[in-house]
Amino acid sequence: MLSQGEIQAMLAARRPNFSLERDLYCDEGVYQADLEHIYYKEWLFAIPAAELVKTGSYATMQVGAYPVLMVKGADGVIRAFHNVCRHRGQRICSKENGTAPKLVCPYHQWTYELDGRLLYARDMQEGFDASKYGLKPVACREVGGMVFVCLNPEPPAFDLLEEKLSAYLAPAGLKEAKVAFSSTIIEKGNWKLVMENNRECYHCGGSHPSLCRTYSDSPTMTAMEGPWAAAPEILAHWNRCEGVGLPSRFTNHPKMQWRLARIPLLNNAESYTMSTKRAVTKLMGQMPFFDAGSLLFYHYPNTWNHFLADHAIVFRVLPISPTETQVTTKWLVPKDAVEGVDYDLKTLTEVWINTNDEDRQVVEENQKGILSPAYEPGPYSTLQEEGVIQFVDWYAEMMLDRLSPRPAMAAE
Ligand code: FES
Ligand SMILES: [Fe+2]
Repeated sequence: MLSQGEIQAMLAARRPNFSLERDLYCDEGVYQADLEHIYYKEWLFAIPAAELVKTGSYATMQVGAYPVLMVKGADGVIRAFHNVCRHRGQRICSKENGTAPKLVCPYHQWTYELDGRLLYARDMQEGFDASKYGLKPVACREVGGMVFVCLNPEPPAFDLLEEKLSAYLAPAGLKEAKVAFSSTIIEKGNWKLVMENNRECYHCGGSHPSLCRTYSDSPTMTAMEGPWAAAPEILAHWNRCEGVGLPSRFTNHPKMQWRLARIPLLNNAESYTMSTKRAVTKLMGQMPFFDAGSLLFYHYPNTWNHFLADHAIVFRVLPISPTETQVTTKWLVPKDAVEGVDYDLKTLTEVWINTNDEDRQVVEENQKGILSPAYEPGPYSTLQEEGVIQFVDWYAEMMLDRLSPRPAMAAE
């Protein structure tokens, strides 16, 4: 198990534009450092807001060692808490989703308000001050229908993302949507391999026959390199969409932690379906037409998303061990769309269920190869894997910054 100093040395010595050393993809110490310095520090995508349909609706997630609870209050606000009772530490909600008028600990029934205040603790002695035992809050922000949480008591800046994401998502209708289907898979690979695989389409032609019916694997089509390199068909798409009020142009975080851009689908396809036609007969939110392509949004370390005219697909990535990663995918459709009438689940979900499974296989084979002592870092293609290079650079820079010992206090 590598120490933080050894991880730092390994990252400092890495060869630019090459994949990482073996241990960075499988070592327990690296896994713990990734949790401590990335997953416990950064904003994470948690759930679509539409998942919490009414007062008392809740969802849970596990981030490393931390069980987290998101719950909708009577005021309509979604809050996040550590899912840990302030009595003797029981996990309060054990299900992935549910609805409850109050949050009642199953162990001794301490009862919390939906805003986290402790309301009731049975048979506690005189002098017990319930106001001191509210649930511990977790930073939580809802932007455009996406709920983000941050375990860091001093969360990193979120304002620029909030401004851009709320503008880009405004027409996408996430808030007036419902979750039509949810899938969770475990990929036997390090979380960074899952993210790397998502950040390139070099593998798409060989791996994704159903996605490639509608999604171009050309690196310029994914606008990876910014508006200066956008292909004419992308510029035409942006002009058409922005002309009717859909923010579409490539925009990004200065260090590429996130990126938003709307791409056209292949051959005027409407949606990610086998037929290339719409999967849902109704438009999401304020979307003006069905062939609006896909608004792509990723945010490191744990999400990528596709917002289409007829549905949205949101993805959440959570590491669960050095070589295992949970990937949860949710399909959202307009709230008033009726299953069996306006859409059917197979047509809606089959392309990305296939694609996720194909990605799982490549990630698992990638991990198996990397576990060989014969593995050595290999060169990324700067033509095809610019997104991977950006992700790995972002990761290495973030870790080097955070693994650095703090300057010692001057001893007087
Ligand atoms: S641990 Fe929750 S009520 Fe006792
Ligand atoms: Fe893929």
